[in-house]
Amino acid sequence: MRLALIYGGRSGEHDVSRKSARSILDHLDRAAYDVTELLIGRDGQWHVDGVPVPLAVALRAIQHCDVAFPALHGPYGEDGRLQAMLEWLDIPYVGSGVLASAAGMDKAVTKKLLAAEGLRVADGVTMARGDETVPPGLALPVFVKPARAGSSLGVSRVDDWAELPAALRKARELDPKVLIEQAVTGREIDVAVLQHPDGRVEAGPPLEITVTRGFFDYAAKYDGGAEFQIPARLDQATTRLLQGQAIRAFHALECRGLLRVDFFLPAEGAPVVNEVNTFPGMTAASQFPQMWQRAGLSFAALLDVLIATPRR
Ligand code: DAL
Ligand code: MG
Repeated sequence: MRLALIYGGRSGEHDVSRKSARSILDHLDRAAYDVTELLIGRDGQWHVDGVPVPLAVALRAIQHCDVAFPALHGPYGEDGRLQAMLEWLDIPYVGSGVLASAAGMDKAVTKKLLAAEGLRVADGVTMARGDETVPPGLALPVFVKPARAGSSLGVSRVDDWAELPAALRKARELDPKVLIEQAVTGREIDVAVLQHPDGRVEAGPPLEITVTRGFFDYAAKYDGGAEFQIPARLDQATTRLLQGQAIRAFHALECRGLLRVDFFLPAEGAPVVNEVNTFPGMTAASQFPQMWQRAGLSFAALLDVLIATPRR
């Protein structure tokens, strides 16, 4: 099977995507897949198997493949824009379609859809462009986040309202649309959702993240500042509850193929969905492949499932 692996990209998660692609290439059954590599530079320049080419040439190379595998994180790659191009090319592709990708990338939209499904999300507000007023109804600490970014880029924890303008500026460097959210005190638990070729949707064993310092930011994510416990030490009822909610999130956003749902589990009350990732990290340090590995699905077998799952 000819596979177009698309990675890199214009977002701040360019390097993460390259690492995800690296580990995909390392684990993919090379006897089963003939891979064409499409690297998108930070400047948007496309490269086919290492050679810079105009977009039209790159698209033709994708069209010569049987399946496209967008291994991109963040805006332009994970937010429906690339998926729309693949729809135009009429090529089957791994992962969610245009709507779910766009909705899953935008934290404000994700929260509305999940709340409508009855899932709990953190209290928060979306700030209008230029607005620096302290939002009523939120108590410190809060998190300030760009609505459409990943890997915690542009995210700050604010413990004093005097820090708010700087936090807003940092978030607005990535996205004019910014969220201020009430910090949730609780254990941090991720759940991986996978759709099988027969359409069945399954949630894997929950993973608990323990951060050595601060919060699970970019450095903690990729430079070893966090520890994972798989399965998380939870009773069976809580495990089932989280898995059920993750699957509900998958359907509420109309996802396809895969999703990672990131929760906070407060000491009291319902779990809070922090965010979702329609194309979660696949690097050697990432949660998604490790969770499936623990469930008995090797990285190679996981990739086979992702590539074989229906895409229309
Ligand atoms: N956005 C990064 C890649 C993640 O959530 O894993
Ligand atoms: Mg994310």
